[in-house]
Amino acid sequence: MERLIKERLPRHVAIIMDGNGRWAEKRSLGRIEGHRQGVKAIRDTVKAARRLGIKVLTLYAFSQENWSRPPKEVRALMRLLKEYLEGELKEMLDNNIRLVAIGNLEDLPPDVRRTLRETIRKTRSKNGMVLNLAISYSGRAEILRAVKKICQDHSKGKLRTQGITSEVFSRYLFTNELPEPDLLIRTSGESRISNFMLWQIAYTEIYVTDTFWPDFRRKDFIKALLDYQKRERRFGLTRRQLTG
Ligand code: FPP
Repeated sequence: MERLIKERLPRHVAIIMDGNGRWAEKRSLGRIEGHRQGVKAIRDTVKAARRLGIKVLTLYAFSQENWSRPPKEVRALMRLLKEYLEGELKEMLDNNIRLVAIGNLEDLPPDVRRTLRETIRKTRSKNGMVLNLAISYSGRAEILRAVKKICQDHSKGKLRTQGITSEVFSRYLFTNELPEPDLLIRTSGESRISNFMLWQIAYTEIYVTDTFWPDFRRKDFIKALLDYQKRERRFGLTRRQLTG
């Protein structure tokens, strides 16, 4: 903790929480127990991020592809999500955390959607940290959705072809008001992006840990942040250009 340089903390950390199933399998438990333990890791990580001064924390909670998992597992994940939102509302309010969500939220069961909407509304004025949940999320679908909206605005005469810059395009994404992630953490040792924030991670630093998500704790988070602080982010420039 002491070794962390406060001025060089990533503003936005995104996490691909992976390995719940394997964590459970190793213990001869059902996959759902892995997800249940995964929620504990979420609580711990949100608390750590808030205390460390991270401004935006994005968690990949459920991908659009995850709808094709066995119905029992999908139902359990939806139930855990709803329980998490209900159980953590007070914690969010007390800790000045604003909840937002990205993804095809209209795919969610009505009760989960209602709880999500309510949590977003109740935490709207909080400004200590943004907790961004990616739910029913697909990076490609997000880009296609942006392209369609741009086409609509173009045909209505609201947008000229020359006006479609990177900055303008970014505003059509779900992440509209959020900064791009500085650090992407993936647990469970897999070096894949899995259709996550494809546009937004163009210059994001990637950190992969072998730890399964249910075992991920504050110390693992700090390890990732320390690793990030050792990196030189050049955004395509030379070292000399950066150091002047
Ligand atoms: C991946 O593990 C994890 C997920 C499918 C998403 C994470 C979900 C939770 C921690 C619980 C619910 C979410 C919230 C926000 C309360 P996996 O099942 O793909 O693991 P495996 O690759 O080992 O099978």
